[in-house]
Amino acid sequence: MNDRTRTGAGSPPLIAEIRVGAWLEDGPAAKWFPGFSMRRVRDGESLLRGPLPDQAALFGVLHRLRDLAIPLRSVNILTEPKQTRAAVFARQTIQGDPTMNPVASPPDPHPAGESILITGCSSGIGLAMALHLASRGFHVLAAVRREPDAERLRGFHLSSLEPVCPLDLADPAQITAAAASINESLARKGRDRLYAVINNAGGGFIAPVELMDIGRFRAEMETRVMGPVALLQSLLPLVRRARGGRILWIATPALVAIPYVASIHACEFAMNCVAQNLHLELSP
Ligand SMILES: NC(=O)c1ccc[n+]([C@@H]2O[C@H](COP(=O)([O-])OP(=O)(O)OC[C@H]3O[C@@H](n4cnc5c(N)ncnc54)[C@H](OP(=O)(O)O)[C@@H]3O)[C@@H](O)[C@H]2O)c1
Repeated sequence: MNDRTRTGAGSPPLIAEIRVGAWLEDGPAAKWFPGFSMRRVRDGESLLRGPLPDQAALFGVLHRLRDLAIPLRSVNILTEPKQTRAAVFARQTIQGDPTMNPVASPPDPHPAGESILITGCSSGIGLAMALHLASRGFHVLAAVRREPDAERLRGFHLSSLEPVCPLDLADPAQITAAAASINESLARKGRDRLYAVINNAGGGFIAPVELMDIGRFRAEMETRVMGPVALLQSLLPLVRRARGGRILWIATPALVAIPYVASIHACEFAMNCVAQNLHLELSP
């Protein structure tokens, strides 16, 4: 990924000021935020202030708040010493979700041999996941857009790694054809189910909303939201048969808006919403 939000080497550390709807000082939650000062700012609200090496660390803190069911009021990101870098407001309450708490999660049964579809396997996270899972015995259907990338996947000589090509998620005709070819491939192997669908394909770019290339933004939404939903509509009968099959979207938690990354995070807000809908609608 060339075009991504990262705090570059040598850039000043970020300071986060996070206002929450709970009294945290001396509370059992304090141990979860090492390095952060905490003070009560008004009845029922506290301000956490602390350094962050990068945005990923901020997402970690926000995830922890959610796991602890602590309502988030707002986030301010500052650079040293006092200059405001960006003010990011999330005027929403993020409620705890016990399924997000790793302590509460059941151990993964790791059912090697099951079939998994991963999109965007020509590079990066998708390629790494495909190789990792195929080498651990999963049957990986690895989707790519171009034949040379499919050929490269075949070159790894992993019998459990099967390219699906072409699959451009911004192209409805290719989505229909790929879904048919996945169904056929599983049927040929005598399989009637898909254990997991991992929606990884996507890219994103950095620009203020005012100057964003609307064509690129539309393509990104197609690739990361509309395309995966269209693909899922065709594959859900297979996922249902796995009885407890997984549907994963590769994304940041996207809990708050961050300046200049609307093309990435707007998709991720939408993906999180669709994922939560699926969780509700597909539950027994
Ligand atoms: N890395 C991060 O820091 C980060 C942070 C947040 C979210 N993510 C998300 O994680 C996912 C993977 O990231 P990465 O860093 O591994 O990216 P990457 O190396 O750029 O890989 C992206 C993959 O998506 C494929 N792709 C792009 N547009 C597509 C389309 N229209 N249809 C089908 N496939 C398409 C690419 O295929 P081609 O080779 O054909 O272009 C490539 O295989 C992305 O969705 C990204 O937005 C990454």
